[in-house]
Amino acid sequence: MSHNLLKGKRGIIFGALDESSIAWKVAEKCYAEGATFTLTNAPIAMRMGAINQLAERCKTEIIPADATVVEDLEKLIDRSMEVLGGKIDFILHSIGMSPNVRKSKPYTDLSYDFLMKTLDVSAISFHKVMQVAYQKDAISEWGSVVGLTYIAAQRTFPSYSDMAEAKATLESIARSFGYHYGKNKKVRVNTISQSPTWTTAGSGVKGFDAFFNYADKLSPLGNASADACADYCVFLFSDMSKMITMQNLYHDGGFSSVGVSQEIMDMLSNETESK
Ligand SMILES: NC(=O)c1ccc[n+]([C@@H]2O[C@H](COP(=O)([O-])OP(=O)(O)OC[C@H]3O[C@@H](n4cnc5c(N)ncnc54)[C@H](O)[C@@H]3O)[C@@H](O)[C@H]2O)c1
Repeated sequence: MSHNLLKGKRGIIFGALDESSIAWKVAEKCYAEGATFTLTNAPIAMRMGAINQLAERCKTEIIPADATVVEDLEKLIDRSMEVLGGKIDFILHSIGMSPNVRKSKPYTDLSYDFLMKTLDVSAISFHKVMQVAYQKDAISEWGSVVGLTYIAAQRTFPSYSDMAEAKATLESIARSFGYHYGKNKKVRVNTISQSPTWTTAGSGVKGFDAFFNYADKLSPLGNASADACADYCVFLFSDMSKMITMQNLYHDGGFSSVGVSQEIMDMLSNETESK
């Protein structure tokens, strides 16, 4: 059901790879809520081709950009303003990748070249996107920039490896840039800390099944879906959230506030009894 919450708003959505991507759901919801936007992803991701279907459905243009390359981002922002006919009102940064996780390098035997890549792709790209937009004065007053993060920034989840460092940096960039962007241009910057979600990036984490089920059993509302995350993004892009900035917002069914749930206690006591 649409409420036209984003009617007249222009955006840029990073990170839709396939139908399971969180960014894909965000694009669909933004379109339904009346926004116009461009879609972007790393040139290599374009080769999979699925994003073309999304672009067709949302009647929009795809502009390839490696989010770690400043020149790509400059072209993306210029072209987006041209295609959309004015300044940008919202940006979704939905990007994450760790070569250490991909190559199953243990946390105690990281490749530091890979670590630099993890940080550049998953965190510093957030700064790059905002710095390019800021210097071009490309975002309208009360515009909204959202990055996606995970609670491994605050607590340890062993198999999340160096992505934890990336997420901690990402959240810090949201606060730091949020200050300057708010003060000087009245632009808001927030991160959404999302539940484990079945996507290409998510399921690349070792033992994701267990990860997902544990969080689902711990959270009083269960895990938040990608669809629900997209609703939250729409809210943060809309004028309904104008005074929210520099926040890391948990969107996790309550996970972050729970010590232990009855389901987990029952599971563990069943295990003890069967021994
Ligand atoms: N899936 C989860 O469990 C979960 C939970 C919390 C937060 N997140 C975060 O949500 C975001 C989106 O991930 P997702 O789960 O939808 O997975 P996804 O794999 O669908 O999306 C990740 C995207 O990052 C893009 N990307 C990688 N390198 C890039 C680069 N150099 N330039 C531009 N784009 C690049 C990929 O092409 C892909 O589209 C990520 O930041 C992820 O860490 C995911």
